[in-house]
Amino acid sequence: MAKYSTFSLACVLLYLNDVATAASINSYNGLGLTPQMGWDNWNAFACEVNEELLLGTSEKIVQLGLRDLGYKYVILDDCWSSGRAANGSLVADSKKFPNGMKHVADELHGKDLLFGMYSSAGEYTCGGYPGSLDHEDADATSFASWDVDYLKYDNCFNRGQFGTPETSFKRYKAMSDALNKTGRPIFYSLCNWGQDLTSYWGSAISNSWRISGDITASFDRPDSRCPCDEDDYDCKLPGFHCSIMNILGKAAPMGQNAGPGGWNDLDCLEVGVGSLTDDEEVAHFSMWSIVKSPLVIGADVNKLDSTSYSVYANPAVIAINQDPAGVPATRIWRKQVPQVDGNGKGEIQLWSGPLDNGDQVVALLNGASIPMTMTAKVDDIFIDSDEVSVSSWIAYDLWANRLANSTASSIVQGGSLDYSKYYNATELPYASGLAKNDSRLLGQPVANVSIKSPLSAYVPAHGVALYRLKKA
Ligand code: GLA
Repeated sequence: MAKYSTFSLACVLLYLNDVATAASINSYNGLGLTPQMGWDNWNAFACEVNEELLLGTSEKIVQLGLRDLGYKYVILDDCWSSGRAANGSLVADSKKFPNGMKHVADELHGKDLLFGMYSSAGEYTCGGYPGSLDHEDADATSFASWDVDYLKYDNCFNRGQFGTPETSFKRYKAMSDALNKTGRPIFYSLCNWGQDLTSYWGSAISNSWRISGDITASFDRPDSRCPCDEDDYDCKLPGFHCSIMNILGKAAPMGQNAGPGGWNDLDCLEVGVGSLTDDEEVAHFSMWSIVKSPLVIGADVNKLDSTSYSVYANPAVIAINQDPAGVPATRIWRKQVPQVDGNGKGEIQLWSGPLDNGDQVVALLNGASIPMTMTAKVDDIFIDSDEVSVSSWIAYDLWANRLANSTASSIVQGGSLDYSKYYNATELPYASGLAKNDSRLLGQPVANVSIKSPLSAYVPAHGVALYRLKKA
């Protein structure tokens, strides 16, 4: 011991800590090695749920090729139950689900999809239906007996059992243990809105955790119903009606605690919900992908228009989200955009992150309300790497191969898919496609990038330019 000074011991510990951060975290139950993908009814249908909606939607998910792009979980949100039976077990509303939940699971499994369920770590769910607090074992047993594959677990009516990480952890761990006891692999998705620093303890007991109050289909509108901003790490009043930029800001410092097995959940996607512009939808989907949020479609897929569909159906962007290394991209810098004729409000940001095969993903995000030429220097993009001065890269534009609108239109209208061009992750998982440099996952090469030649793009208002950098 005398050999080492306190200083050098501290350095070793710091180094080990760095190594631990760089290595992947472990999945507590073996699930969620990449972020979950699927569909959830809440954003488009709220409480209007029934068997027909789930099964009809699942057919459309298959026809649109979304299942084969990886959107496998069909998640039934709140308002599905009619109460508890005399023996205490949860009962599905027989008007909404006349054939019961096991039937829904069987039908979904028959289509090679997975079934997601919802409950709350409270006395009631947010919609006022029975919650699972103090019923964890019984309810987990019911979910397993229905062959459920996924549980979204909410935070309403929690009898005040929050306020410290310990109280929240304990309440959510009870269901984690109960699910494990069933012996059925059930993906566990926490929905406690980031309260009590979830991202610091979520991975020990779950596969994903929400980091904010509920999303709304707005790019950046401030709303007092979403009172916590991105500097409020220990947000006690997460609220709802949170904009895309608000939630993204909250994700910026949280990447370090996510990785294979456990993910920061930025909430379901608003692509195809409300009236976001196409550029906003592209930016929203791109940013959720690169920070490794779950990609859960929030739209009514039966009414998707061709542009929103072609956002959800871009395998080159999904491949970033499903990258085997599972490292969330980091925000490198942010700059306020000065007012231009009263229109230039907002900020521009550079995000960058390493990928499994030595590639790098880079997003030039224009959060301002005017188009901007943005430039990213190589030593900013590779801020964590020391090879910058010697290497050069080819930048692949990940939106360049977006489905042509005529093709997307014909598919959303029921036309069939040309699988020779369309990516099928059921047959060729993203990890294998990436290992083979499948061109459908790369976009188009558009620029050479080096210390002498920075990455530059004209980025639309509320838009993004998204690249995969490969060593030249
Ligand atoms: C909360 C959750 C939402 C949704 C609703 C259902 O608000 O955060 O995602 O599940 O409850 O009532």
